[in-house]
Amino acid sequence: MPRAQPLWFFMMVAVLPATTGKSFDGLLRRTTDGRYEAYMKPPYKSNHASFIERLSNEDMVIAWFSGSKEGESNVAIVFARLPNGTLQWMNPRTVSQRPGYSNQNPVLFADNNTLFLFHTQQKASFTSTCNSDVGSEDSAQVWALVSTDGKGEKFTKPKLVLSKAGSFDRNRIIRSLKNEWLFPTYFAGGSSKDQHSILMENAKHDPYSSWVGHAFPKSDYLVQPSVVRPVPGKPNLVVFFRDRRAGNIYRATSPDDGKTWTTPTKTTLPNNNSGIEANVLKSGRIALVYNPTHHARDPLVISLSEDQGKSWKYTRTLETSSSGKNVVEYSYPSLLQDTMARIHVSYTYNRETVKHVIIPNEQWIMKTY
Ligand SMILES: *[C@@H]1O[C@H](CO)[C@@H](O)[C@H](O)[C@H]1NC(C)=O
Ligand SMILES: *[C@@H]1O[C@H](CO)[C@@H](O)[C@H](O)[C@H]1NC(C)=O
Ligand SMILES: *[C@@H]1O[C@H](CO)[C@@H](O)[C@H](O)[C@H]1NC(C)=O
Repeated sequence: MPRAQPLWFFMMVAVLPATTGKSFDGLLRRTTDGRYEAYMKPPYKSNHASFIERLSNEDMVIAWFSGSKEGESNVAIVFARLPNGTLQWMNPRTVSQRPGYSNQNPVLFADNNTLFLFHTQQKASFTSTCNSDVGSEDSAQVWALVSTDGKGEKFTKPKLVLSKAGSFDRNRIIRSLKNEWLFPTYFAGGSSKDQHSILMENAKHDPYSSWVGHAFPKSDYLVQPSVVRPVPGKPNLVVFFRDRRAGNIYRATSPDDGKTWTTPTKTTLPNNNSGIEANVLKSGRIALVYNPTHHARDPLVISLSEDQGKSWKYTRTLETSSSGKNVVEYSYPSLLQDTMARIHVSYTYNRETVKHVIIPNEQWIMKTY
């Protein structure tokens, strides 16, 4: 005869979703395979392009864009925080929004106790007959907000950073050996052949001061560079690109801390013009999250490389649809390892919301199922 369940048990049952249903409540729940996962509360209908960062107090923060539809007027940058040691994301709030304009691609960067939030802003596409579903990227500029309270509770108003029309960001800022900021950006104006990538350097740690650009030569069609330093203290950098031609992920290297780059070469990893992010783990392996397919943005996987991104020895699926009909989208990943060596990934969950997954350790990725 089973013992009567305490009251909290029934309260839990009422709150937890059914096995197939998802609760978009920002609560991290343990999965059967040892991860934690949370579906963020979506502020508006369409949600995309998340970015995850860690603050110096070890709180995690995520920003993404949320609005009626990508490219439309008023699409906002929203921001949420997970206090360290807790399982509940705080309610996301709108931090940048402008009528007649559409915001995209937030990039968070915590420097000491200051949190910088970069994002693009472009003229909105107003009509349903506009043949671009992303509005006019030709008009995009990069803006930034700053928070100095250590938690992102209050941000300044957005101010212009990169004024050249067509400027876009997406991936993580790293530091040069001289502690300059290296901000991977790209030019998204014109046709896809005109698009290319540029590494912007800032020695003053002030987003509104001037930036110096270092070209990624021969990066036509290659956008959203994700730059990593495989060996701490060494000037060698590696970059991975998204491919507008829907071919493969491309890779290039720099011997001199980002000043010059090799011609990008095709990796063995497929890429159907979908977002990727790489990051270096404490072990020295590079982790990469991407859609390993020439078809839709499903599945989403994480791979590990032990040779600076030339080959990928381990791969494990993070998300895959059961339908197999390519109607869902698990995309635009952002990843980061925390001080406890857990790996955090955020990504678009079918544009309905943003999902945050905590992988317990690297060994989880090395087990293939
Ligand atoms: C963050 O939380 C972990 C445990 O949950 C704790 O060990 C660590 O000291 C905390 N970090 C800070 C900076 O408070
Ligand atoms: C953070 O601290 C370093 C070292 O003191 C300093 O060089 C840098 O300018 C600081 N960053 C910001 C944004 O103030
Ligand atoms: C890329 O994905 C899109 C949308 O899912 C699809 O229409 C297109 O055929 C794919 N491209 C290739 C090269 O498979």
